Amino acid sequence: MTMTRTLGRSGIEVSALGMGCWAIGGPYWGGTQPYGWGAVDDDESVRTIHKGLDLGVDFFDTASSYGAGHSERVLGRALRGRRDRVVIASKFGNTFDEQSKQALGPNGSVEYMRSCLDGILRRLDTDYLDLYQFHLGDAEIHDAVALVDPLEELVRQGKIRAYGWSTDDPHRAEEFANAGAGCAAIQVHLNALEDNAAMLRVCAAQGQAAINRGPLAMGLLSGKYQDGHAVGRDDIRGQAPQWLRYFDNGVATPQWRAKVEAVRAALTVGGRTLAQGSLGWLWARSPANIPIPGCRTVEQIEENAGALEHGPLSLREFEEVNRLVSELEA
Ligand SMILES: NC(=O)c1ccc[n+]([C@@H]2O[C@H](COP(=O)([O-])OP(=O)(O)OC[C@H]3O[C@@H](n4cnc5c(N)ncnc54)[C@H](OP(=O)(O)O)[C@@H]3O)[C@@H](O)[C@H]2O)c1
Repeated sequence: MTMTRTLGRSGIEVSALGMGCWAIGGPYWGGTQPYGWGAVDDDESVRTIHKGLDLGVDFFDTASSYGAGHSERVLGRALRGRRDRVVIASKFGNTFDEQSKQALGPNGSVEYMRSCLDGILRRLDTDYLDLYQFHLGDAEIHDAVALVDPLEELVRQGKIRAYGWSTDDPHRAEEFANAGAGCAAIQVHLNALEDNAAMLRVCAAQGQAAINRGPLAMGLLSGKYQDGHAVGRDDIRGQAPQWLRYFDNGVATPQWRAKVEAVRAALTVGGRTLAQGSLGWLWARSPANIPIPGCRTVEQIEENAGALEHGPLSLREFEEVNRLVSELEA
């Protein structure tokens, strides 16, 4: 089934499923804290991207900081000769050193936004970016709004086609989207276990696409962490920072495993796998939703793209999942 979505008011059409490219950036650190997802095989990452294209996935979300530039380089390599077939989103705001692979902290200035784009285009080996997203979700609103006119200028120059903000604060998203016509998307944390109603309301009111990050709850909603095995210490989930709630010492917490178990049967309806049901839930939740599951192997993108064949959960299936989640919360 061909399922497409529009990136908000930009009119840019994308497949209803995107591919998240954080993990394929490979290791990078903030001091000794891993920010990557452990070791990666670049050749497998390239095969994964090509398989996605074969299966109708044409939207790729990365960030300049993922793997300290490495994710964009791998994406650029995979998309060589195919640029006109894809829509690429990247992000600015988290600085890094490409050589040492160290994250060097936030910078939300206009100057950095401009210079970061030059690095992004070089690494992606392209002369324009489709969607340029502000990565600092908690930045002050006036600092974010100060970026809007310079971003509009980049749109006029043809260096970007549209822009957005990755934030979970409805007020921030509303002010930013209101400030400029070229704002097309808000990237929101959303999955079948963690609804984000206030953010979806803002996206609908402001004509924004809701790009869903963490659609599989960092892998939990694939079901493969239910057996309690640990990810490596070089994986961000292995030494989880405070904001990362699903894993403790690399093992999915009993509370989150119980939540996954509670919705498993409801999400695996109609022959779907758990990951496919989770993606179907997102499409049923809002027509603005565009899930971007992180994929690091051909097998993973095959399974995730298989969700396109099943489409959204039916209203009855969707409501059953919601009933189970509210029961858990009660
Ligand atoms: N602040 C931001 O802007 C921000 C923050 C977070 C994410 N994002 C974006 O959102 C994307 C997705 O979020 P996420 O990567 O945090 O989490 P996610 O999509 O919920 O989970 C992705 C991980 O789940 C595992 N997985 C994926 N498909 C699978 C399958 N079919 N079967 C088994 N395992 C599977 C893979 O890791 P393992 O195989 O290692 O388990 C994969 O890296 C990111 O790649 C990034 O582009 C943006």
